[in-house]
Amino acid sequence: MKISFAEFEPPRPPGDGGAVVVGVWEEGALTVPARQLDELSGGAISRAIAASPRFHGKKSELLPIVAPANLAASRIVLAGLGKPGALDARGFEDLGGALLVHLNSVGEAAATVGIEVGDASEIAPAVAAAHLAFGAALRSYRFDKYRTTEKPERKPTLATLTVAGPNPAAARKAYENFAAAAEAVAFTRDLVSEPANVIYPETLAEQAAGLSSLGLDVEMLDEERMRALGMGALLGVAQGSVRPPRLVVMRWNGGADGAAPLAFVGKGVTFDTGGISIKPAAGMGEMKWDMAGAGVVIGLMRLLAARSAKVNAVGVVGLVENMPSGSAMRPGDIVTSMSGQTIEVLNTDAEGRLVLADALWYCQDRFKPALMIDLATLTGAIVVALGHDHAGLFANDDTLAERLVAAGKAVGEKLWRLPLDDAYNKAIDSDAADVKNIAGDRAAGSIVGAQFVQRFVNKVPWAHLDIAGVAWAKKDAPTVPKGATAFGVRLLDRFVADYYEK
Ligand code: BES
Ligand code: MN
Ligand code: ZN
Repeated sequence: MKISFAEFEPPRPPGDGGAVVVGVWEEGALTVPARQLDELSGGAISRAIAASPRFHGKKSELLPIVAPANLAASRIVLAGLGKPGALDARGFEDLGGALLVHLNSVGEAAATVGIEVGDASEIAPAVAAAHLAFGAALRSYRFDKYRTTEKPERKPTLATLTVAGPNPAAARKAYENFAAAAEAVAFTRDLVSEPANVIYPETLAEQAAGLSSLGLDVEMLDEERMRALGMGALLGVAQGSVRPPRLVVMRWNGGADGAAPLAFVGKGVTFDTGGISIKPAAGMGEMKWDMAGAGVVIGLMRLLAARSAKVNAVGVVGLVENMPSGSAMRPGDIVTSMSGQTIEVLNTDAEGRLVLADALWYCQDRFKPALMIDLATLTGAIVVALGHDHAGLFANDDTLAERLVAAGKAVGEKLWRLPLDDAYNKAIDSDAADVKNIAGDRAAGSIVGAQFVQRFVNKVPWAHLDIAGVAWAKKDAPTVPKGATAFGVRLLDRFVADYYEK
């Protein structure tokens, strides 16, 4: 879909018209573009509103007027904007997403949206236009490459979307970073959606390596190198699979020379069978997205590079496949992590924390980052605690936690902080080794997982995002079609932009 920005012009005939979308405030007051169309069409809009008792101009209400007289437009779509000034940046994104779906559902190929923000608004019209376009771009994502027999009538039709309002040049400029963000989000969604016979450690590493064309410095560590570094925890998970593991390091140096980088670390289990502690068959296919943390880190690094972020950042992803086999770890095995701590692996399905243990240790040891944030589909328990609306946040630093929560709110990727505490930490003391990878009961499963991860973090400010409940959506949302969400890419991009680039 091609997105462009223009001044608003009512579609006077002649012209080949697509759809034209204009806003209506709650309780029926027309925006200026709507008033223009109403006059030109001999009152079609006023009559349509009068004839539609269920249309109040509330947020997310849409009312189509097909084939209006005296206009070179196939249809007018009235979009409810709520109370004047009530629509914020996120609101315009949601509107963009809702319009995209509506326009595709009626088969439009082209549409123009006339923007008005209202006098009371805190958002400039050009910025609102860029957000609306962003929402439409985010919602237009599809993972359809394997649907070879899809009926043409199910394919999206909207090929061009013009967002029209005052100062299109400013809107165009504001949209540049959003375009990069939409591409990064789509890239991550693709990585997460691909099945595990296509995306496995080597191929996921190649995808990351491909980003060097954007100016990222990408290094790959193979099994031999990881063995030399002593990464017994990550390698323990990998040993059951015929697919060799990889650790990928991506660096973006857009900040001051020598300034300590922000570090992002991702769990990249390209398929999680559970290993010898095997998962039940039902739903196991979902475990192709157990690399979502890594996918988000790779997408984030791509975005920082694409928009030339003024920051030093490093992304580290630990890539393994967790399989049961004759060479797999057994419950009870003891492995030695890069940190030197020994780990009793009592459940081979608690594998993400083993991967993070070595990836985090390596990251802080080598890069001495200013802060470290890991993302992982770590626990089913986080779904029990928070469902699919918030990711779990754990942090050893209040400022870091507050910043992450604020960035999440701003982009609509919400976080909820849960505690870390010595009382939980005790639960993973092992009789046979320094630490065990499960507590042995189901109490506070996500916190226990975070406590395990924290044992491999030194004094550096650190946060852990448990994204198991939000990485994949079973339902459509305005800017997130069902499937892989890329939750975290926008959040962390915003976090970097708001707090570390000024
Ligand atoms: N990848 C899973 C967690 C998960 C569950 C992600 C559901 C997405 C949806 C993780 O590796 C896992 O298996 N965790 C175990 C930990 C347990 C054995 C302590 C779990 O949550 O059951
Ligand atoms: Mn597992
Ligand atoms: Zn897992």
